[in-house]
Amino acid sequence: MNITNLELTNFRNYKKLKLNDLAKTNIIIGKNGIGKTSILESIYVLCLARSFKNNIEFNLIKLDSDFLKIKGDILGNSKIKKLEYFLSKSGKKTKINNVLKKKISDFISQYKVILYAPDEVKFIKDSPSNRRSYINISLSQLNKSYIKLLNDYNVLIKNKNDYYKKLYINSFIDESYLDVLDLKISELGYMIYKSRRDFIEKINNYLKKICKKLKLGNEINLNYISQFNNLNEDDFVKLLKKNRKKEIQQGITKTGIHKDDFEFLLDDKIVKDYCSQGVQKMVMLAFKLAEMEVLIKDYYEQPILLLDDLFSELDETNQNIILENLNKEIQIFITTTDINNIKKNILKSAKVIDLDRMVER
Ligand SMILES: Nc1ncnc2c1ncn2[C@@H]1O[C@H](COP(=O)(O)OP(=O)(O)OP(=O)(O)O)[C@@H](O)[C@H]1O
Ligand SMILES: [Mg+2]
Repeated sequence: MNITNLELTNFRNYKKLKLNDLAKTNIIIGKNGIGKTSILESIYVLCLARSFKNNIEFNLIKLDSDFLKIKGDILGNSKIKKLEYFLSKSGKKTKINNVLKKKISDFISQYKVILYAPDEVKFIKDSPSNRRSYINISLSQLNKSYIKLLNDYNVLIKNKNDYYKKLYINSFIDESYLDVLDLKISELGYMIYKSRRDFIEKINNYLKKICKKLKLGNEINLNYISQFNNLNEDDFVKLLKKNRKKEIQQGITKTGIHKDDFEFLLDDKIVKDYCSQGVQKMVMLAFKLAEMEVLIKDYYEQPILLLDDLFSELDETNQNIILENLNKEIQIFITTTDINNIKKNILKSAKVIDLDRMVER
């Protein structure tokens, strides 16, 4: 799958930008603030119908305008599809081949995107809740029913927390109501746990090879930390019951997959505690590349890879290792401020988009 043409109207700093005849490897260069990240962001929005890094969607609209439009031609299976994304104060509209899609879900996730941005190294050091939300977004790209499962689960947790709060006023405990909730929490929780576990297992299958290729060490592992580890659904119901008294005292549900966490190990060392900033960046990139392999090999998808500011904080050796090991089969967009970062042999086969020449400032 390739984007061949991209047209932006009133998107971020662009009043109008047309990029035609995009290649497999596209290198976007330009000074700080010229609009490199914005181009990657527009591709992300076009494919997923939502903004990246939890940015507020309305902020995508050019400051002096009241709507934005992104148009892109996507080539897959020798057919071109025309995608269109429109956003204004009255909402968003998406079209495929000029036909309006009533449900956004008919539009999103048809086209997969893997984004690597500098601040994503946060995943390693961030709060568990941000790590969970990252994994949730990845999984929802792979499995549409995952989001529904998660929403249903969150409603159960909210109901349980609300009930715990009521017990501050009315101390009669309806154990049978809590039993019913716990059964449902275990059932849905186990399904979510299994999806996460399978996904992490797949990621780890590819991480080992990628780790060697990127010359990071012998092995990177993404560790899945869950109260469900080594338990089945029945055991989990028992655990919920065992923790009930304590939870009632604390007034909050602390048992369940909403407390899951993830951590990287590099040759058995905890990456967030022991590795330098540059190595953490490389580990995060390895993770992204593993995610891409999962999409390609396990789901037969052809994602687009967006690599924003790939080279910041990396030394020349690492920069070259990355460039030499990128999958040549998929479409890649790389942004950089310095064309000298890119080796001549890569430049030869790439399309270079020089924004300093194209964009008026
Ligand atoms: N809604 C908006 N309307 C107009 N301009 C905007 C809007 N949102 C962001 N901008 C501006 O768009 C410009 C491009 O930002 P972008 O992040 O794409 O730059 P960049 O080339 O990636 O820079 P850097 O090299 O620093 O990462 C910035 O100057 C930013 O202030
Ligand atoms: Mg940028």
